[in-house]
Amino acid sequence: MTETTASSGGRPNLPMQGVPQPRRDEVLNLPRVHISSHPVMAHKLTALRDKNTQPPEFYRLVKEIGALLAYEATASLALEQSPIETPMGPMAGERLAGGIGVTPVLRAGLGLAEGFREVIPDVQVWHLGLRRDEQTLQAMEYYNQLPHKVDLQVCYAVDPMLATGGSAIDAINVLKRRGIPRLCYVGIIAAPYGLLKLSQTHPDIEIYIGALDESLNDVGYILPGLGDAGDRQFGTF
Ligand code: PRP
Ligand code: URA
Repeated sequence: MTETTASSGGRPNLPMQGVPQPRRDEVLNLPRVHISSHPVMAHKLTALRDKNTQPPEFYRLVKEIGALLAYEATASLALEQSPIETPMGPMAGERLAGGIGVTPVLRAGLGLAEGFREVIPDVQVWHLGLRRDEQTLQAMEYYNQLPHKVDLQVCYAVDPMLATGGSAIDAINVLKRRGIPRLCYVGIIAAPYGLLKLSQTHPDIEIYIGALDESLNDVGYILPGLGDAGDRQFGTF
């Protein structure tokens, strides 16, 4: 673990100042963590991170990356038999067994959820509003539109940025209380600190990310990262 520096040697006045962080290579091989190695992902991530990329293109890229991550994260879904007739005759087809849920963590998860819907149009979308307090970095729930009836085989919590891990951990806590049989987290960019925290707190979930970055700065932003994913999608600078 490396330590971020405290300015005066006294009590840190920035939330991540002086907090020990794991190095990238220390979290590369965590169980159940999948880091995309697809060249198209790397290509799109570079365009997404570029500070000159404007909100309309940024949002489009988040959706496209969401579709790529959806393709990777759904690779192990269960299938059931579905006999059909093709124009040539009968065939033992297959279809996805059980419902699939996507929980966008508002706001920034909205673009990712749209990408999932392009791959699987009949996903259920369970909106969950969490806002990170920028002083304490604690996530606070402000909106919850999750149905009471659960008929899913899996639910994906989607949020572009896994920084300290607080929002992701809270989102999974909320979904666990619904009794969904299988939960996954899907993000675009993770910091080693948040990835380790999420993996240790919820060792039973699969985690899919597009890239693993280097560290968090003193105020909890990912380096090199992409800045504020919500503001860049919705133009609220
Ligand atoms: C961002 C991001 C995550 C969270 C990550 O959201 O989309 O939800 O911060 O940080 P953490 O891992 O330290 O919790 P934010 O709270 O800024 O809200 P927004 O989506 O409305 O911009
Ligand atoms: N939220 C963001 O949008 N970006 C970061 O780097 C960290 C949290």
